[in-house]
Amino acid sequence: MKILVTGGAGYIGSHTLVELIDAGYEVVAVDNLCNSQKHSLKRVEKITHGNIAFYQIDIRDKEALTQVFKHHKIDAVMHFAGLKAVDKSVQKPIEYYDNNIGGTLALVEVMQNFNCKILVFSSSATVYGDAHKMPIREDFPLSATNPYGYSKLMIEQLLQDVFQAGGGWSIAKLRYFNPIGAHKSGTIGEHPNGIPNNLMPHILRVAMGELDKLNIFGGDYNTPDGTAIRDYIHVVDLAKGHIQALHALIDKPQIITANLGTGNGYSVLDMVMAFEKASGKPVPYQITHRRKGDIAICYADPSYAYKKLNWKAKHGLKDMCQDAWRWQVKNPDGYLC
Ligand SMILES: NC(=O)c1ccc[n+]([C@@H]2O[C@H](COP(=O)([O-])OP(=O)(O)OC[C@H]3O[C@@H](n4cnc5c(N)ncnc54)[C@H](O)[C@@H]3O)[C@@H](O)[C@H]2O)c1
Repeated sequence: MKILVTGGAGYIGSHTLVELIDAGYEVVAVDNLCNSQKHSLKRVEKITHGNIAFYQIDIRDKEALTQVFKHHKIDAVMHFAGLKAVDKSVQKPIEYYDNNIGGTLALVEVMQNFNCKILVFSSSATVYGDAHKMPIREDFPLSATNPYGYSKLMIEQLLQDVFQAGGGWSIAKLRYFNPIGAHKSGTIGEHPNGIPNNLMPHILRVAMGELDKLNIFGGDYNTPDGTAIRDYIHVVDLAKGHIQALHALIDKPQIITANLGTGNGYSVLDMVMAFEKASGKPVPYQITHRRKGDIAICYADPSYAYKKLNWKAKHGLKDMCQDAWRWQVKNPDGYLC
């Protein structure tokens, strides 16, 4: 079977390509490289000894996408392409809606034209807004606090409607919690263009001596140590969740909405300590003001994914930190070296 991976050169897309190739699928990747480098795909080929047919296109370009579908008989799509920085989405809402929603619409339309109706979509725990109870289950109320979150919510609705309209679609909406870590080999990892805005890439930069200290946003949350709590999940576990979802969708046409998290919540200070232990490097930090839009606590109830997809995360915090650190040490300039 041939799987198209949109956003394949990116962080989660590249790790999922490894799992797809290892599972015996043929793969085609498309990416406009707005937040990635195509070397990541070469690295995936190196790890897997596989081949990736790559097209540098924007998924909003329906004509270009159509050409890809003409060249390859695509059986299913994993859709990672999108913009993901919450703060930038607040500054540039039109760009975010255009890219994320416009891109998905174009993709779904072209898929429909080619009668390709199996789709795995990257949603996010952000669709739960500021949930008042933990752990978060899939049937909790949905909301958003920024354009990025709304774009995910709108796409989820769009896909729900496409499924409901009939015609044999099979769709998984996977709600990721906080992916970190890297492939065990240290060959691929997270390397966003520009300044990263997630915790782990910042910790890595401090540990490398590129930044003086880590800014921790908020030390007065209602949590045991005052810092915010998240559900960090190893990117390889996340990637494997996609393979399980794909199997379920191939098995029978259905729509699946599932959390991909570990079910464990760790505070920012827990993360700093775990990282220091795993890497042997100090991570000096200072606690500053809360960041607008950040919530205190967010962790998943992953039991539905286990029941429905026979999937659960296997890696603990130690593996996540060690693997992220290995990637960073082997590739101080990411894919640029
Ligand atoms: N990393 C996270 O913390 C996280 C959490 C929840 C959900 N997600 C979602 O998972 C998906 C993948 O995230 P990631 O962390 O791998 O991000 P990423 O930025 O590393 O990967 C996304 C890829 O999509 C490409 N892209 C963006 N717009 C495109 C377009 N219009 N046409 C073609 N390519 C385009 C980028 O160049 C990039 O390679 C995104 O949709 C993101 O919103 C990520």
